[in-house]
Amino acid sequence: MVRRQSLHGQWSSRLAFVLAATGAAVGLGNIWRFPYVAGEHGGGAFVIIYLACVFAIGLPLFMAEAMLGRRGRRNPINAMQLLSQEEAGHSGWQVAGWIGVATGILILSYYSVVAGLTFSYAIDIAAGSLNHARPMDITAHYRELMNSPFELLFWHTLFLAFAVFVVARGVEQGLERVVKFVMPVLFLMLVVVVVYAGAKFAFGQAVQYLFDADFSRVDGDTLLTALGQAFFSLSLGMGAIMAYGAYLPDDASIPGTSFAIVLVDTVVALLAGLAIFSVALGSGLDPATGPGLMFHALPLTFADMPGGVFFGTLFFLLLILAAWSSSIGLIEPAVARMVERHGFSRRNAALAIGALAWLLGVLTLLSFNAFSGVRFLAGSLFENLDYLAANILLPLGGLLVALFAGWAMSKASSVDEFEIGTGLRYTLWRSFTRFVVPLGVAGIFCRALGWLP
Ligand code: PHE
Repeated sequence: MVRRQSLHGQWSSRLAFVLAATGAAVGLGNIWRFPYVAGEHGGGAFVIIYLACVFAIGLPLFMAEAMLGRRGRRNPINAMQLLSQEEAGHSGWQVAGWIGVATGILILSYYSVVAGLTFSYAIDIAAGSLNHARPMDITAHYRELMNSPFELLFWHTLFLAFAVFVVARGVEQGLERVVKFVMPVLFLMLVVVVVYAGAKFAFGQAVQYLFDADFSRVDGDTLLTALGQAFFSLSLGMGAIMAYGAYLPDDASIPGTSFAIVLVDTVVALLAGLAIFSVALGSGLDPATGPGLMFHALPLTFADMPGGVFFGTLFFLLLILAAWSSSIGLIEPAVARMVERHGFSRRNAALAIGALAWLLGVLTLLSFNAFSGVRFLAGSLFENLDYLAANILLPLGGLLVALFAGWAMSKASSVDEFEIGTGLRYTLWRSFTRFVVPLGVAGIFCRALGWLP
């Protein structure tokens, strides 16, 4: 194994990496985005395709990114540059790192707006203003919030400041402790919500909606959105896992760790789906409501639950923390690059990236109100940003990573870095990375463009 040192230090243990990477993976992508995109694409078949993308494409890529990060021990751009030099004799593959860093900032900009919404809901639920609310009241509440640009701006600013502050002080501090507490409690709360919402609303219908697949209506857009959701949820294709891999101790095994994280992330998304569709289908809420789905279904669940104010507040607080640990994964690649390459202090780098994301985020929050008439390609400004980032840039970044790790990198190097020998596990990883990932991503791109039947 090549033993290099990262400039930012190392995780104290393998567990610290597992926690940080789980923190990056589990977030709004699982609880807010998965249910609403699944609902917009009719459930069933979408979910099965998503699961296939997670395990056939996401898992091998997760391993590849962690492996490349650790081997390079640098931010994603410099790691790809260095490894590209070593393996291919030119530095062309660094383009994967550039795409990743840019995509991270793009996602952060609107992620922070949505995380800001969860902030606002936590406060409203705690204040009891959604207690015993009817579906009509909840819809009115959501509309009112979306139509208040200054309120959205306030919460967006607050959330981003919170994230930037922590990144400025160094990633390892605090993250470990928070994730260690948040993840198990969030998981428990989700189970409670599934059981309660399932009993009170329509659990059977939710199961059927999520798993009863009708593939006859699947088109290129469904495939691309499912693929994009797999990338988004696992934090792949944008260098987060590479950046975290750079701080991974030399002796930590990558395959087992990756599998555990991918599995946890997927189970959390499915639980969130079960909870939200039980409520939606049982209360007449349209599953294709869009980005507001979670903000309708969850308050409705807590409105009449015994102890609903307490549980609802706790749930939304946990969600803020989960979003916060994800946002750190979005900022870290860009910050690490600015520190390593341009000599910025961590603080100034985090401030600069935060300011950029803040400005871009203003576009997103205005697209819900003042700019709601601006519509092109995928819809509103927010929908276009999200489509570009999740459905195009993340899979593109992932495609490049797979081509590099599977084809440009010598077998000897990946064998050396994984340290799992050349048995079945390695062979599976290598064949999936060489064939299944590139053909899968390219095939789905072609289908979405109408180039394949
Ligand atoms: N995976 C995170 C989520 O599901 C979002 C994210 C994407 C975080 C990319 C970091 C990098 O919420």
